[in-house]
Amino acid sequence: MSNPEQIKHAIEIRTTKPFTDQKPGTSGLRKPTKTFKANQYFENFIQAYFDDLTETMNGKPPTLVVGGDGRHFVRESAQIIIQMAAANNIKKLLVARDAKMSTPAVSCVIRKYGTDGGIVLTASHNPGGIDNDFGVKFNIANGGPAPEAVTNSVYDKSRQLTNIRLCPTLTNIDLLTLGKHTYEIEGRSIPFEIEIIDSVDDYVQFMKEIFDFDKIRNLLNGEKGKFPIMINALSGVMGPYVLRIFHQELNAKNAVTVKNCENLEDFGGHHPDPNLTYAHELVEDMEHGDYEFGAAFDGDGDRNMILGKGGFFVTPCDSLAVLAANLNVIPYFQKHGIHGYARSMPTSGAVDRVAAKNQKLLYEVPTGWKFFGNLMDSKLISICGEESFGTGSDHIREKDGMWAVLAWLSLLANIDRSVEKILHAHWNTYGRNFFTRYDYEEIDGPGPFSMLKKLEQMCMSNELVNKSFNTPYGNKQYTIKIMDDFHYQDPVDGSYTEKQGIRIIFTDGSRLVFRLSGTGARGATVRLYVDSYENNPSTYTKDAQEMLRPLVSLGLEIAQLEEFTGRDKPTVIT
Ligand code: G6P
Ligand code: ZN
Repeated sequence: MSNPEQIKHAIEIRTTKPFTDQKPGTSGLRKPTKTFKANQYFENFIQAYFDDLTETMNGKPPTLVVGGDGRHFVRESAQIIIQMAAANNIKKLLVARDAKMSTPAVSCVIRKYGTDGGIVLTASHNPGGIDNDFGVKFNIANGGPAPEAVTNSVYDKSRQLTNIRLCPTLTNIDLLTLGKHTYEIEGRSIPFEIEIIDSVDDYVQFMKEIFDFDKIRNLLNGEKGKFPIMINALSGVMGPYVLRIFHQELNAKNAVTVKNCENLEDFGGHHPDPNLTYAHELVEDMEHGDYEFGAAFDGDGDRNMILGKGGFFVTPCDSLAVLAANLNVIPYFQKHGIHGYARSMPTSGAVDRVAAKNQKLLYEVPTGWKFFGNLMDSKLISICGEESFGTGSDHIREKDGMWAVLAWLSLLANIDRSVEKILHAHWNTYGRNFFTRYDYEEIDGPGPFSMLKKLEQMCMSNELVNKSFNTPYGNKQYTIKIMDDFHYQDPVDGSYTEKQGIRIIFTDGSRLVFRLSGTGARGATVRLYVDSYENNPSTYTKDAQEMLRPLVSLGLEIAQLEEFTGRDKPTVIT
């Protein structure tokens, strides 16, 4: 019998028609799954990426990591990438077993093995399945999402593409068995290598270096009394990581109740976004009061939601601030020191207060994890986060849901066993930034764009600055100090990004931000972010929605949101 690996595989050059809409958004290219599967849409995008890579690598054959969040089309698309990589002079692919790997694990593996980048097959928190979404994200050699210079260049290439290259005989590669394979490809001077790697191993190893697992194990196993927790993976890619870390490494089966830890192609119908609306099952489980701590992840494992006993909600903005204030309990930071902090612009200013107290630099970047990469590479920041349920540190270059959970458990093991008490102590020290976000999802038609245009015009004309407004609800008065369209110059490479959201900053420091989502795959999604600071302790335990209603009502009035969008209420409030 001939060894199939000794066959020389021929390269086919197939003609294709370019698409004009393959422009990556906030985090890669996301479209309905059916769009990716039709008319070589996926193949075209991958070819544009390989063409760009060949150019930037000056012909040096790259090594790449490939993994995805397990949604429908991930396995199939990994097989397509293999066929195309062989024909595009890729030296080696490190492919996750069954093509499943969390986004943070991809980042970890890229860095650990020094690869030239990676391809992440995910639409993150968007629902999966044939009738939902699929996505592709490129990461670079630092392990982080490709910056705009790269994604723009791939986009330019995608619009001119005439051919795709592939090895059609390289079919049905066994992605389930760990190991290395080498293939001879016609016309290539070097063979093509594939290594199927355990997608959980390297990541778990790294977490054990970062955190004190013994301490967390003792907490969960009741050294100082029972500490039951609940983790819900929403049927995303995190299931195997949760089971491995909590049930095996931490040996805490009795304390850690898990739900939805089987990774399903359609995420079991879940909308795998860990927020109060879509992770409602976790909220309900926590409300019974049986668990001290609860957490959920999104489809690809980079987002997290943290809840305390009884369903006490920790906003991602507060989570970032509290972790920043207490990093010293985590061995990784004891070893590497703590540089500055960063947050995305719409994220509340809670972490700014920690920075001020600790005399650390605070960077405010546009929405999107890619903007943190340079700051971490240059050791300007150690921790960063976003209101969109993303928290992470410079251990990798992606936000990291499991990292956030282990960081919180470290605080609970070292500082106080109650999430709520940790938050109250924090507010008592720093004051409280009340924060909320209203989402108006999937709006058809031009309304949202016209609304943003109008707000942009108001910024340009400065017509509202120094004007005072009575809020339609609650009759409070606010005066606008600054109104602008956020722009950012990267302090490391000088790159400039504009039109990143309308900011209205009031004289008391409260803020309203309007922007359009860059991650949706259908229609337009308007986000309204509201951030207001209080340092009167009697307000700290108040309900954020109640506290912020006056400001929300003013925001809706200034933007004439209902008139432009036809929506009288948001689809999601976080
Ligand atoms: C992804 C990115 C985040 C970003 C978020 C914003 O999750 O990884 O860095 O904050 O999208 O999404 P949006 O829909 O608001 O553009
Ligand atoms: Zn995600």
